[in-house]
Amino acid sequence: MVTICCLMVLLSGYLLCLSFTGPKAPATPVTFVVPAGWPQPLYDFKQNPLTTQGIALGRKLFYDGRLSKDGNFACAACHQQFAAFATYDHNVSHGFNNSFTRRNAPGLFNLAWQKDFMWDGGINHLDVQPLAPITDTLEMAENIDTVLNKLRADTAYVRMFSAAFGDEKINTLRMTKALSQFMLTMVSANSKYDRVMRGEDSFNLPQRLGYEIFQKKCVACHAPPLFTDLTYRNTGLSVDPYLNDMGRMRITRKPEDSLKFKVPSLRNVVLTFPYGHDGRFYNLMDVFEHYRGGVVAGSTTDALVKNKIPLSNFEIGQLKAFMYTLTDSVFLKDPVFSPPGYENRTPLAPGEHLHRYQY
Ligand code: HEC
Ligand code: HEC
Repeated sequence: MVTICCLMVLLSGYLLCLSFTGPKAPATPVTFVVPAGWPQPLYDFKQNPLTTQGIALGRKLFYDGRLSKDGNFACAACHQQFAAFATYDHNVSHGFNNSFTRRNAPGLFNLAWQKDFMWDGGINHLDVQPLAPITDTLEMAENIDTVLNKLRADTAYVRMFSAAFGDEKINTLRMTKALSQFMLTMVSANSKYDRVMRGEDSFNLPQRLGYEIFQKKCVACHAPPLFTDLTYRNTGLSVDPYLNDMGRMRITRKPEDSLKFKVPSLRNVVLTFPYGHDGRFYNLMDVFEHYRGGVVAGSTTDALVKNKIPLSNFEIGQLKAFMYTLTDSVFLKDPVFSPPGYENRTPLAPGEHLHRYQY
Protein backbone atom coordinates (compact mmCIF):
# COMPACT_ATOMS: atom_id res chain seq x y z
CA MET A 1 0.00 0.00 0.00
CA VAL A 2 2.80 2.38 1.01
CA THR A 3 4.69 1.53 -2.17
CA ILE A 4 1.63 2.19 -4.29
CA CYS A 5 1.11 5.56 -2.58
CA CYS A 6 4.75 6.48 -3.09
CA LEU A 7 4.53 5.51 -6.72
CA MET A 8 1.42 7.65 -7.16
CA VAL A 9 3.08 10.64 -5.51
CA LEU A 10 6.12 10.18 -7.73
CA LEU A 11 3.97 9.83 -10.83
CA SER A 12 1.86 12.92 -10.12
CA GLY A 13 5.05 14.86 -9.35
CA TYR A 14 6.43 13.78 -12.72
CA LEU A 15 3.23 14.80 -14.53
CA LEU A 16 3.18 18.14 -12.74
CA CYS A 17 6.78 18.69 -13.78
CA LEU A 18 5.97 17.84 -17.39
CA SER A 19 3.13 20.33 -17.51
CA PHE A 20 5.52 23.12 -16.48
CA THR A 21 8.63 22.29 -18.45
CA GLY A 22 7.52 19.76 -21.05
CA PRO A 23 7.27 20.49 -24.77
CA LYS A 24 4.73 23.24 -25.54
CA ALA A 25 1.71 22.22 -27.60
CA PRO A 26 2.22 23.51 -31.16
CA ALA A 27 -0.07 26.33 -32.29
CA THR A 28 -3.36 25.12 -33.83
CA PRO A 29 -3.33 25.38 -37.65
CA VAL A 30 -6.18 27.27 -39.35
CA THR A 31 -7.04 26.65 -43.00
CA PHE A 32 -7.58 29.70 -45.20
CA VAL A 33 -10.82 29.12 -47.07
CA VAL A 34 -10.95 30.44 -50.64
CA PRO A 35 -14.56 31.39 -51.51
CA ALA A 36 -16.02 29.23 -54.30
CA GLY A 37 -15.04 30.48 -57.73
CA TRP A 38 -12.38 32.92 -56.49
CA PRO A 39 -8.79 32.89 -57.71
CA GLN A 40 -6.02 31.50 -55.51
CA PRO A 41 -4.71 34.10 -53.02
CA LEU A 42 -1.36 35.75 -53.73
CA TYR A 43 -0.20 35.79 -50.11
CA ASP A 44 2.29 32.96 -49.44
CA PHE A 45 0.78 31.23 -46.43
CA LYS A 46 3.73 28.81 -46.31
CA GLN A 47 5.90 31.65 -45.01
CA ASN A 48 3.34 32.54 -42.33
CA PRO A 49 0.93 29.67 -41.66
CA LEU A 50 -2.30 30.78 -40.00
CA THR A 51 -2.86 29.51 -36.46
CA THR A 52 -5.55 30.19 -33.88
CA GLN A 53 -2.92 31.65 -31.54
CA GLY A 54 -1.27 33.79 -34.26
CA ILE A 55 -4.64 35.26 -35.32
CA ALA A 56 -5.58 35.97 -31.67
CA LEU A 57 -2.27 37.77 -31.15
CA GLY A 58 -2.72 39.80 -34.35
CA ARG A 59 -6.20 40.80 -33.24
CA LYS A 60 -4.92 42.01 -29.86
CA LEU A 61 -2.16 44.02 -31.57
CA PHE A 62 -4.60 45.52 -34.09
CA TYR A 63 -6.75 46.92 -31.27
CA ASP A 64 -3.88 48.00 -28.99
CA GLY A 65 -3.22 51.74 -28.69
CA ARG A 66 0.22 50.97 -27.25
CA LEU A 67 1.46 50.49 -30.80
CA SER A 68 1.30 54.31 -31.04
CA LYS A 69 3.30 56.98 -29.23
CA ASP A 70 0.54 58.41 -27.04
CA GLY A 71 -1.48 55.21 -26.69
CA ASN A 72 -4.45 56.66 -28.59
CA PHE A 73 -3.98 55.31 -32.10
CA ALA A 74 -4.50 51.62 -32.50
CA CYS A 75 -4.73 50.35 -36.07
CA ALA A 76 -8.45 50.13 -35.33
CA ALA A 77 -8.65 53.88 -34.66
CA CYS A 78 -8.47 54.44 -38.42
CA HIS A 79 -9.63 51.02 -39.59
CA GLN A 80 -13.12 50.56 -38.10
CA GLN A 81 -15.02 47.31 -38.52
CA PHE A 82 -18.45 48.88 -39.10
CA ALA A 83 -16.91 50.83 -42.00
CA ALA A 84 -15.33 47.67 -43.49
CA PHE A 85 -12.14 48.75 -41.69
CA ALA A 86 -11.95 52.14 -43.46
CA THR A 87 -12.32 55.41 -41.46
CA TYR A 88 -16.02 56.18 -41.19
CA ASP A 89 -17.08 59.65 -42.31
CA HIS A 90 -13.57 61.16 -42.64
CA ASN A 91 -11.91 62.21 -45.88
CA VAL A 92 -8.51 61.65 -44.27
CA SER A 93 -7.88 60.02 -40.88
CA HIS A 94 -6.80 61.62 -37.59
CA GLY A 95 -3.36 60.64 -36.35
CA PHE A 96 -0.91 61.47 -33.56
CA ASN A 97 -0.85 65.03 -32.16
CA ASN A 98 -3.97 66.23 -34.01
CA SER A 99 -2.40 65.53 -37.38
CA PHE A 100 -4.22 64.28 -40.45
CA THR A 101 -3.10 61.56 -42.80
CA ARG A 102 -2.55 62.63 -46.40
CA ARG A 103 -4.82 59.97 -47.84
CA ASN A 104 -8.17 58.34 -47.23
CA ALA A 105 -7.88 55.08 -45.27
CA PRO A 106 -9.01 52.21 -47.52
CA GLY A 107 -11.19 49.40 -46.21
CA LEU A 108 -9.27 46.30 -45.16
CA PHE A 109 -10.57 43.02 -46.56
CA ASN A 110 -9.55 40.39 -49.10
CA LEU A 111 -5.93 41.45 -48.55
CA ALA A 112 -4.72 37.91 -49.31
CA TRP A 113 -5.40 38.61 -53.00
CA GLN A 114 -3.52 41.94 -53.20
CA LYS A 115 -0.02 42.02 -54.59
CA ASP A 116 0.81 45.46 -53.24
CA PHE A 117 -0.69 47.93 -50.80
CA MET A 118 -1.50 51.63 -50.34
CA TRP A 119 -3.14 53.87 -52.96
CA ASP A 120 0.15 54.07 -54.85
CA GLY A 121 1.24 50.44 -54.28
CA GLY A 122 4.25 51.70 -52.32
CA ILE A 123 4.31 48.62 -50.10
CA ASN A 124 4.80 45.25 -51.73
CA HIS A 125 4.21 42.83 -48.86
CA LEU A 126 1.47 42.69 -46.24
CA ASP A 127 4.00 41.73 -43.55
CA VAL A 128 5.87 45.04 -43.85
CA GLN A 129 2.72 47.19 -44.12
CA PRO A 130 2.26 47.78 -40.33
CA LEU A 131 5.71 49.37 -40.05
CA ALA A 132 4.52 52.30 -42.17
CA PRO A 133 1.67 53.52 -39.92
CA ILE A 134 3.51 52.74 -36.67
CA THR A 135 6.46 54.95 -37.59
CA ASP A 136 4.62 57.61 -39.66
CA THR A 137 4.61 60.88 -37.69
CA LEU A 138 1.11 61.67 -39.00
CA GLU A 139 -0.23 58.30 -37.90
CA MET A 140 1.03 56.38 -34.85
CA ALA A 141 4.37 58.26 -34.56
CA GLU A 142 6.12 55.53 -32.59
CA ASN A 143 9.49 53.83 -32.78
CA ILE A 144 9.45 50.06 -33.42
CA ASP A 145 11.91 49.25 -30.63
CA THR A 146 9.81 51.18 -28.14
CA VAL A 147 6.71 49.26 -29.25
CA LEU A 148 8.54 45.93 -28.87
CA ASN A 149 9.72 46.90 -25.38
CA LYS A 150 6.17 47.83 -24.38
CA LEU A 151 5.01 44.40 -25.54
CA ARG A 152 7.89 42.60 -23.80
CA ALA A 153 6.93 44.24 -20.52
CA ASP A 154 3.41 42.80 -20.70
CA THR A 155 3.16 39.18 -19.53
CA ALA A 156 -0.04 38.64 -21.53
CA TYR A 157 1.92 39.38 -24.74
CA VAL A 158 4.85 37.19 -23.63
CA ARG A 159 2.41 34.32 -23.22
CA MET A 160 0.66 34.99 -26.53
CA PHE A 161 3.87 35.29 -28.59
CA SER A 162 5.04 32.06 -27.03
CA ALA A 163 1.75 30.29 -27.84
CA ALA A 164 1.82 31.56 -31.43
CA PHE A 165 5.49 31.12 -32.29
CA GLY A 166 6.83 28.46 -29.89
CA ASP A 167 8.99 30.63 -27.62
CA GLU A 168 8.85 33.95 -25.82
CA LYS A 169 10.90 35.99 -28.28
CA ILE A 170 9.11 39.21 -29.27
CA ASN A 171 10.50 40.80 -32.42
CA THR A 172 9.35 42.88 -35.38
CA LEU A 173 8.92 39.92 -37.71
CA ARG A 174 6.69 38.03 -35.30
CA MET A 175 4.63 41.14 -34.53
CA THR A 176 3.99 41.92 -38.19
CA LYS A 177 3.33 38.28 -39.09
CA ALA A 178 0.69 38.09 -36.36
CA LEU A 179 -0.94 41.31 -37.61
CA SER A 180 -0.95 39.84 -41.14
CA GLN A 181 -2.56 36.64 -39.88
CA PHE A 182 -5.42 38.61 -38.35
CA MET A 183 -5.85 40.85 -41.40
CA LEU A 184 -5.74 37.89 -43.80
CA THR A 185 -8.76 36.39 -42.07
CA MET A 186 -10.77 39.51 -43.00
CA VAL A 187 -12.43 37.98 -46.05
CA SER A 188 -15.55 39.69 -47.36
CA ALA A 189 -17.45 37.39 -49.71
CA ASN A 190 -20.95 37.25 -48.30
CA SER A 191 -22.87 40.18 -49.75
CA LYS A 192 -26.20 39.93 -51.53
CA TYR A 193 -24.21 40.02 -54.80
CA ASP A 194 -22.35 36.86 -53.68
CA ARG A 195 -25.56 35.16 -52.66
CA VAL A 196 -27.08 35.95 -56.06
CA MET A 197 -23.97 34.59 -57.81
CA ARG A 198 -24.23 31.42 -55.71
CA GLY A 199 -27.87 31.05 -56.77
CA GLU A 200 -29.20 31.57 -53.23
CA ASP A 201 -30.92 34.91 -53.77
CA SER A 202 -32.01 37.16 -56.65
CA PHE A 203 -31.63 40.83 -57.53
CA ASN A 204 -34.70 43.05 -57.58
CA LEU A 205 -35.31 44.97 -60.82
CA PRO A 206 -33.22 48.13 -60.11
CA GLN A 207 -30.35 45.98 -58.81
CA ARG A 208 -30.41 43.81 -61.91
CA LEU A 209 -30.49 46.79 -64.26
CA GLY A 210 -27.67 48.38 -62.22
CA TYR A 211 -25.66 45.19 -62.54
CA GLU A 212 -26.08 45.30 -66.32
CA ILE A 213 -24.88 48.92 -66.51
CA PHE A 214 -21.99 48.06 -64.20
CA GLN A 215 -20.91 45.26 -66.51
CA LYS A 216 -20.86 47.62 -69.48
CA LYS A 217 -19.29 50.71 -67.92
CA CYS A 218 -17.33 49.84 -64.79
CA VAL A 219 -16.27 46.22 -64.81
CA ALA A 220 -13.10 46.76 -66.86
CA CYS A 221 -11.46 48.28 -63.77
CA HIS A 222 -13.70 47.20 -60.88
CA ALA A 223 -13.54 43.52 -61.86
CA PRO A 224 -15.33 40.87 -59.76
CA PRO A 225 -14.93 38.94 -57.56
CA LEU A 226 -12.61 41.49 -55.87
CA PHE A 227 -14.25 44.47 -57.66
CA THR A 228 -10.80 45.75 -58.53
CA ASP A 229 -8.36 44.52 -61.17
CA LEU A 230 -5.54 45.69 -58.83
CA THR A 231 -4.10 48.04 -61.46
CA TYR A 232 -3.22 51.75 -61.12
CA ARG A 233 -5.25 54.20 -63.19
CA ASN A 234 -5.76 57.90 -63.61
CA THR A 235 -9.50 58.58 -63.60
CA GLY A 236 -9.11 62.31 -64.25
CA LEU A 237 -9.30 63.68 -60.70
CA SER A 238 -7.97 67.24 -60.67
CA VAL A 239 -4.77 67.65 -58.63
CA ASP A 240 -5.30 69.02 -55.12
CA PRO A 241 -2.68 71.79 -54.90
CA TYR A 242 -2.25 71.32 -51.13
CA LEU A 243 -1.66 67.56 -51.25
CA ASN A 244 -0.03 67.58 -54.70
CA ASP A 245 -0.22 63.79 -54.73
CA MET A 246 1.30 62.26 -57.87
CA GLY A 247 0.20 58.71 -56.94
CA ARG A 248 1.98 55.76 -58.49
CA MET A 249 4.71 57.99 -59.97
CA ARG A 250 5.97 58.66 -56.43
CA ILE A 251 6.97 54.98 -56.32
CA THR A 252 8.01 54.13 -59.88
CA ARG A 253 9.34 57.61 -60.81
CA LYS A 254 7.94 57.03 -64.32
CA PRO A 255 6.08 60.01 -65.82
CA GLU A 256 3.55 57.64 -67.38
CA ASP A 257 2.45 56.69 -63.83
CA SER A 258 1.65 60.26 -62.87
CA LEU A 259 -1.71 60.64 -61.06
CA LYS A 260 -2.43 56.92 -61.16
CA PHE A 261 -3.97 55.37 -58.06
CA LYS A 262 -4.96 51.81 -57.21
CA VAL A 263 -8.43 50.86 -58.39
CA PRO A 264 -10.28 50.47 -55.06
CA SER A 265 -12.53 47.49 -54.41
CA LEU A 266 -16.21 48.42 -54.42
CA ARG A 267 -17.14 45.76 -51.90
CA ASN A 268 -18.84 47.42 -48.89
CA VAL A 269 -18.57 50.71 -50.80
CA VAL A 270 -21.70 52.19 -49.24
CA LEU A 271 -19.90 52.23 -45.87
CA THR A 272 -16.42 53.36 -46.90
CA PHE A 273 -17.34 56.97 -47.74
CA PRO A 274 -15.86 59.48 -48.35
CA TYR A 275 -14.36 58.23 -51.61
CA GLY A 276 -11.22 58.57 -53.71
CA HIS A 277 -7.57 58.51 -52.60
CA ASP A 278 -7.99 61.83 -50.77
CA GLY A 279 -11.61 61.33 -49.78
CA ARG A 280 -12.75 64.26 -51.92
CA PHE A 281 -16.10 62.70 -52.85
CA TYR A 282 -18.43 62.75 -49.91
CA ASN A 283 -21.02 60.40 -51.33
CA LEU A 284 -21.63 58.03 -54.22
CA MET A 285 -23.53 60.70 -56.16
CA ASP A 286 -20.38 62.85 -56.23
CA VAL A 287 -18.42 59.91 -57.70
CA PHE A 288 -21.03 59.37 -60.43
CA GLU A 289 -21.03 63.11 -61.20
CA HIS A 290 -17.26 62.90 -61.56
CA TYR A 291 -17.44 60.04 -64.06
CA ARG A 292 -20.14 61.67 -66.16
CA GLY A 293 -19.00 65.30 -65.99
CA GLY A 294 -15.98 66.07 -63.81
CA VAL A 295 -13.19 64.14 -65.54
CA VAL A 296 -10.17 66.38 -66.19
CA ALA A 297 -8.35 64.64 -69.05
CA GLY A 298 -4.56 64.77 -69.04
CA SER A 299 -1.81 62.78 -70.72
CA THR A 300 -2.09 59.79 -68.36
CA THR A 301 -5.89 59.73 -68.02
CA ASP A 302 -7.28 56.28 -68.73
CA ALA A 303 -8.81 55.79 -72.18
CA LEU A 304 -11.92 54.31 -70.56
CA VAL A 305 -12.82 57.53 -68.75
CA LYS A 306 -11.04 60.20 -70.81
CA ASN A 307 -14.20 61.12 -72.68
CA LYS A 308 -16.28 60.77 -69.51
CA ILE A 309 -18.71 57.90 -68.88
CA PRO A 310 -22.23 58.70 -70.08
CA LEU A 311 -24.71 58.07 -67.26
CA SER A 312 -28.33 59.23 -67.11
CA ASN A 313 -29.96 60.02 -63.75
CA PHE A 314 -32.01 56.89 -64.25
CA GLU A 315 -28.88 54.76 -64.75
CA ILE A 316 -27.24 56.32 -61.70
CA GLY A 317 -30.19 55.29 -59.53
CA GLN A 318 -29.85 51.72 -60.76
CA LEU A 319 -26.07 51.65 -60.33
CA LYS A 320 -26.56 52.85 -56.80
CA ALA A 321 -29.05 50.05 -56.14
CA PHE A 322 -26.44 47.59 -57.38
CA MET A 323 -23.70 49.14 -55.16
CA TYR A 324 -25.89 48.40 -52.13
CA THR A 325 -25.80 44.69 -52.98
CA LEU A 326 -22.04 44.71 -52.32
CA THR A 327 -22.51 45.32 -48.57
CA ASP A 328 -21.46 42.26 -46.58
CA SER A 329 -23.24 42.67 -43.26
CA VAL A 330 -21.94 39.32 -42.00
CA PHE A 331 -18.38 40.65 -42.33
CA LEU A 332 -19.21 44.06 -40.84
CA LYS A 333 -20.67 42.52 -37.70
CA ASP A 334 -18.65 39.32 -37.36
CA PRO A 335 -17.59 39.13 -33.70
CA VAL A 336 -14.31 37.40 -34.65
CA PHE A 337 -13.08 40.78 -35.91
CA SER A 338 -14.25 42.82 -32.92
CA PRO A 339 -11.82 43.96 -30.21
CA PRO A 340 -10.71 41.01 -28.08
CA GLY A 341 -13.03 40.59 -25.11
CA TYR A 342 -15.87 42.51 -26.80
CA GLU A 343 -17.41 39.48 -28.50
CA ASN A 344 -20.59 39.60 -26.49
CA ARG A 345 -21.11 43.36 -26.32
CA THR A 346 -23.27 45.42 -28.60
CA PRO A 347 -21.26 46.33 -31.69
CA LEU A 348 -20.30 49.99 -32.06
CA ALA A 349 -22.86 51.91 -34.07
CA PRO A 350 -21.61 54.10 -36.94
CA GLY A 351 -20.47 57.41 -35.47
CA GLU A 352 -20.18 56.08 -31.94
CA HIS A 353 -16.90 57.09 -30.43
CA LEU A 354 -13.89 54.91 -31.00
CA HIS A 355 -12.14 55.50 -27.75
CA ARG A 356 -14.54 53.07 -26.14
CA TYR A 357 -12.22 50.38 -27.44
CA GLN A 358 -8.91 51.82 -26.35
CA TYR A 359 -7.07 50.55 -23.35
C1 HEC B 1 -3.88 57.42 -38.47
C2 HEC B 1 -4.68 56.50 -39.23
C3 HEC B 1 -4.15 55.10 -39.50
C4 HEC B 1 -3.67 54.20 -38.57
C5 HEC B 1 -3.50 54.38 -37.08
C6 HEC B 1 -3.38 53.00 -39.32
N1 HEC B 1 -3.69 53.16 -40.65
FE1 HEC B 1 -3.58 51.74 -42.07
N2 HEC B 1 -3.98 53.14 -43.49
C7 HEC B 1 -4.28 54.47 -43.24
C8 HEC B 1 -4.27 55.22 -44.48
C9 HEC B 1 -4.57 56.72 -44.63
C10 HEC B 1 -3.93 54.29 -45.51
C11 HEC B 1 -3.72 54.60 -46.99
C12 HEC B 1 -2.32 55.17 -47.11
C13 HEC B 1 -1.82 55.37 -48.51
O1 HEC B 1 -2.38 54.82 -49.45
O2 HEC B 1 -0.84 56.10 -48.66
C14 HEC B 1 -3.75 52.99 -44.83
C15 HEC B 1 -3.46 51.80 -45.51
C16 HEC B 1 -3.38 50.56 -44.89
C17 HEC B 1 -3.26 49.28 -45.58
C18 HEC B 1 -3.23 49.08 -47.09
C19 HEC B 1 -4.57 48.67 -47.60
C20 HEC B 1 -4.64 48.54 -49.10
O3 HEC B 1 -5.66 48.03 -49.57
O4 HEC B 1 -3.72 48.97 -49.81
C21 HEC B 1 -3.17 48.30 -44.61
C22 HEC B 1 -3.04 46.81 -44.83
C23 HEC B 1 -3.21 48.97 -43.32
N3 HEC B 1 -3.36 50.34 -43.52
C24 HEC B 1 -3.08 48.34 -42.10
C25 HEC B 1 -2.85 49.03 -40.91
C26 HEC B 1 -2.35 48.41 -39.68
C27 HEC B 1 -2.02 46.94 -39.50
C28 HEC B 1 -2.25 49.40 -38.75
C29 HEC B 1 -1.72 49.31 -37.32
C30 HEC B 1 -0.37 48.82 -37.18
C31 HEC B 1 -2.71 50.63 -39.40
N4 HEC B 1 -3.05 50.36 -40.71
C32 HEC B 1 -2.83 51.84 -38.76
C33 HEC B 1 -4.56 55.01 -42.00
C34 HEC B 1 -4.16 54.43 -40.80
C1 HEC C 1 -10.46 53.28 -65.86
C2 HEC C 1 -10.81 52.44 -64.76
C3 HEC C 1 -12.10 52.74 -64.03
C4 HEC C 1 -13.40 52.72 -64.53
C5 HEC C 1 -13.84 52.43 -65.96
C6 HEC C 1 -14.26 53.01 -63.42
N1 HEC C 1 -13.52 53.20 -62.28
FE1 HEC C 1 -14.23 53.68 -60.45
N2 HEC C 1 -12.34 54.02 -59.78
C7 HEC C 1 -11.18 53.79 -60.49
C8 HEC C 1 -10.04 54.32 -59.76
C9 HEC C 1 -8.58 54.28 -60.17
C10 HEC C 1 -10.57 54.88 -58.58
C11 HEC C 1 -9.78 55.63 -57.50
C12 HEC C 1 -9.50 57.03 -58.04
C13 HEC C 1 -8.67 57.91 -57.13
O1 HEC C 1 -8.99 58.04 -55.96
O2 HEC C 1 -7.70 58.51 -57.62
C14 HEC C 1 -12.01 54.65 -58.61
C15 HEC C 1 -12.92 55.00 -57.61
C16 HEC C 1 -14.25 54.66 -57.60
C17 HEC C 1 -15.12 54.83 -56.46
C18 HEC C 1 -14.70 55.31 -55.09
C19 HEC C 1 -14.38 54.12 -54.24
C20 HEC C 1 -13.58 54.39 -53.00
O3 HEC C 1 -13.58 53.52 -52.11
O4 HEC C 1 -12.92 55.43 -52.89
C21 HEC C 1 -16.37 54.41 -56.84
C22 HEC C 1 -17.63 54.37 -55.99
C23 HEC C 1 -16.27 54.00 -58.23
N3 HEC C 1 -14.97 54.16 -58.65
C24 HEC C 1 -17.33 53.50 -58.95
C25 HEC C 1 -17.25 53.30 -60.34
C26 HEC C 1 -18.40 53.06 -61.18
C27 HEC C 1 -19.83 52.93 -60.68
C28 HEC C 1 -17.93 52.96 -62.46
C29 HEC C 1 -18.74 52.78 -63.73
C30 HEC C 1 -19.71 53.83 -63.98
C31 HEC C 1 -16.50 53.11 -62.40
N4 HEC C 1 -16.13 53.33 -61.10
C32 HEC C 1 -15.64 53.04 -63.51
C33 HEC C 1 -11.11 53.20 -61.74
C34 HEC C 1 -12.19 53.07 -62.62
